[in-house]
Amino acid sequence: MIAVPDIIIAVDGWSSTGKSTFAKMVAKHFGFLYLDSGAMYRGVTLLAMEKGLIGAEGIREDELKAELDAGFDLHFERPADGTTQLFSDSRNIEKEIRTMEVSSYVSPISAVAFVRSWVDEHLHDFSKNGRVIMDGRDIGTTVFPNAELKIFMTASDEVRAQRRYDELIAKGTPASMEEVSKNLKERDYIDSHRATSPLRRAEDAFELDNSEMTMHEELVWIQGLIQGKFGILDYDGRD
Ligand code: DC
Repeated sequence: MIAVPDIIIAVDGWSSTGKSTFAKMVAKHFGFLYLDSGAMYRGVTLLAMEKGLIGAEGIREDELKAELDAGFDLHFERPADGTTQLFSDSRNIEKEIRTMEVSSYVSPISAVAFVRSWVDEHLHDFSKNGRVIMDGRDIGTTVFPNAELKIFMTASDEVRAQRRYDELIAKGTPASMEEVSKNLKERDYIDSHRATSPLRRAEDAFELDNSEMTMHEELVWIQGLIQGKFGILDYDGRD
């Protein structure tokens, strides 16, 4: 295994390009803390839905802000199985934040400026011990503009829709391909056109198009990148 220094790795990209699968693999392989910033936006969206603060008429921003300011507790826990789960107080909401309903409301919620600053503040707090890989839409541009390694992920529309569909079906969430494709297109548009930190590739990010790649090929790709960037040729466990 190669030794990677204590850096921050930012992974951004379009919806359903496999960012979290890639980031989790890198975290496990190199011993990094994995943080899923999208889960935080999903958690805030679930809060807004449960409190009746989002619907066809839009978002009741003042009330949502009051809920966040009142000390809404959203945090990650790591059970012994090595996964990362999102909790709201003592309630595990990892499954609920992945439904199609949350997916359909999350982009408008994440376009709200005070929601973004609330999430950013928490992400910085969770990362204070360093050695973190975080995935999202604005990690390399806004949350950690000085991250030592930035990756921007893309994949073809067809591959992305198929992946998302397979993921939902595997979780037992009913969905149709039309619905999934429509949701992806809408999210791409909102995420890349919003006023506050829109999704875009940081100038110093390395692009990874994984449409035709296996997980193993993705791992080899990042190993090559790390070796090239940090000049590490090999590591045999000795100092
Ligand atoms: O990665 P995901 O699909 O779980 O993210 C859900 C939504 O959250 C996504 O549509 C846009 C938003 N998001 C964001 O605006 N900024 C981030 N850093 C991460 C996610």
